[in-house]
Amino acid sequence: MKNNFKTIAVMTSGGDAPGMNAVIRAVVRTAVVKGINVLAINGGYEGMIDGNFSAMNAESVGNIIHKGGTIIYTSRSERFRKLQWRKVAHEQLKKNNIDAVIIIGGNGSFAGAATFTSEFKIPFLGLPKTIDNDVFGTDYAIGFDTAINTALDALDKIRDTANSHHRLFFVEVMGRELGFLALNSGIAAGAEAILVPEVKTNMKDLLDLLEKGWQRKNNSMIVVVAEGAVKGGVMEIAEQVKKKFNHFDIRVSILGHIQRGGNPSCFDRVLASQLGNHSIYALLKGKKNVVIGMKNNKISYTSFAKSSSYKHAVDKNMLLMANELTT
Ligand code: F6P
Repeated sequence: MKNNFKTIAVMTSGGDAPGMNAVIRAVVRTAVVKGINVLAINGGYEGMIDGNFSAMNAESVGNIIHKGGTIIYTSRSERFRKLQWRKVAHEQLKKNNIDAVIIIGGNGSFAGAATFTSEFKIPFLGLPKTIDNDVFGTDYAIGFDTAINTALDALDKIRDTANSHHRLFFVEVMGRELGFLALNSGIAAGAEAILVPEVKTNMKDLLDLLEKGWQRKNNSMIVVVAEGAVKGGVMEIAEQVKKKFNHFDIRVSILGHIQRGGNPSCFDRVLASQLGNHSIYALLKGKKNVVIGMKNNKISYTSFAKSSSYKHAVDKNMLLMANELTT
């Protein structure tokens, strides 16, 4: 393989996700093996605009594979949406002799990359991370597995206290406009109901389901609510149920950003290592401006434009199954 790459940059962008450090490590270590210099762009697109670059080497990524967050920081950049700032970012890359950029990001970051790479010549490669698992072009995004296990751990703990008091809990999980997190953690926790954006919440059906559970003398009930599932959010739905049924002792718990942190799971560390390692080989093979994902256990490439125009969809069979198991 001919190596046209002397120096590349790696950056993390958008909401952090567990496993980002493991990808950085894999990118840097593989690049070093191939004789390529690596600079970190600190703080995502904001750092690119500001020229916040620093040298990386095999040592600088030691002892990070197990750590949550990102050692090179991240951002959601408003400035990068404007051409005038993308020009500045491009000048910074040129000034630092960057031959290619590897961006560990999600939908927003890849939409930014689609625009940037249509305007300028420097090749980008995208590695998908997000606890929402909504990146089109991969079965799993880095960080999703850890997040569902974090949510599951919380749901199991909530079950203990809910059982002890015979309570009904509404638990909100993240996931933006999709129900991957809610569906997976809810199924695994044996939730009594799972509300996801993919299925319009029918209040009557929910009330019937809860009443049935109550009649069945369930010790406790847990309704997992995806943050995008209902207008007004988890508080609103809990209020509505409270108004109809005063025999339920209801509590609400919003899991929030704990789902983004923590040590990445084994699955996420391995996926991050595979994608990070592969990204260097993809560059050397001449791949550019694509998201590198894993589909059916095989590496797959999806253009930035396509990946950022579509959303990865929840499997309909999972929705049907969840429905059957919660009746
Ligand atoms: O995309 C990841 C995510 O955690 C979503 O699940 C959530 O809606 C959003 O980011 C929260 O963003 P922020 O950290 O900016 O509040």
